[in-house]
Amino acid sequence: MFKRWQNLGEILPDYLEKFVEDFGKKEEVLLEIEEFAKENKVPILLPSAASFLRFLVSLLRPKRVLEIGTGIGYSTLNIYYAYPEAEIITVDSNKKRALIAKEFFKKAGAKVELLEKDAFDVIRDFLSQGKTFDLIFIDSVKAEYPFFNYKVQALLSDGGVAVFDNVLFRGYVAGREFDKRYRRTVELLKLFLSQVKEYPAVKNYLFPVGDGLLVVLK
Ligand SMILES: C[S@@+](CC[C@H](N)C(=O)[O-])C[C@H]1O[C@@H](n2cnc3c(N)ncnc32)[C@H](O)[C@@H]1O
Repeated sequence: MFKRWQNLGEILPDYLEKFVEDFGKKEEVLLEIEEFAKENKVPILLPSAASFLRFLVSLLRPKRVLEIGTGIGYSTLNIYYAYPEAEIITVDSNKKRALIAKEFFKKAGAKVELLEKDAFDVIRDFLSQGKTFDLIFIDSVKAEYPFFNYKVQALLSDGGVAVFDNVLFRGYVAGREFDKRYRRTVELLKLFLSQVKEYPAVKNYLFPVGDGLLVVLK
C-alpha cells in the first residue's frame, strides 16, 4: 500500500510521523477524518504538518483565514481548533469532497464558509474586491503553485502569513531521485521556490516537516 494512504510521508521517517500522529489529545472529529481518509484513500495533511500548522495558527491568532484545497476538511478543522474565533473561508472545486467536508464541519460545530469553486476564480474575485487575509493556507495541485504565488502574496494583509504545503514533494525538489513522470511537477515546484526567493516584500522559511512546508511572511 502506498505510504500516503497510511498517512505516512517520505521526508520524515515513518516512525516519527506515526509518533507525532499518536502524540497528544485530538478532537473526535479529527480522529474520524483520519480514519475516513485511510479507508477511502483521500489525501490529508501529514501528522507533522498538521501539528506545525496548528501551532502556527495558535500563535498567529489570524482574524481572517483563506484555505485553498479543503479536501475533506482535515486541515480546515485543525485551523479551526487552533483558533475557533477565526473567520475561515475554504475553497475546493471537488464537489464530492466538499460535501464530506461540510458534514465534518457540522459534526465539529465549526462555522466555516466553503466555496465550491476553482481557487483561481475565487482569488481573482477577492483581489478585485480588495479583500485581504491574515493567514492563507495552500494545499492544492503542486504544479499550480507558481501561478498562485504572487496572487496569494497580494491577498495577504501586512504581517500576514501564507503557508504552502508539499513544496518539497517527497524530497524530489531537493535532489532525491524520482521517476520521470514527476519531472514536470518537480520543475514547477522548483520554479515556484525560485520565484518566492526573489520576491522582495516577503520573508520565506522552508520547513522539512510533512511533505515540506513553505512559510511566507509579508
Ligand atoms: C491534498 S487535497 C487537500 C487536503 C486538505 N488540505 C487536508 O489536509 O485535509 C487537495 C485539494 O485541492 C483541491 N484543488 C486542487 N486544485 C484546485 C483549484 N484550482 N481550485 C479549487 N480546489 C482545488 C482538490 O480538489 C483537492 O480536494
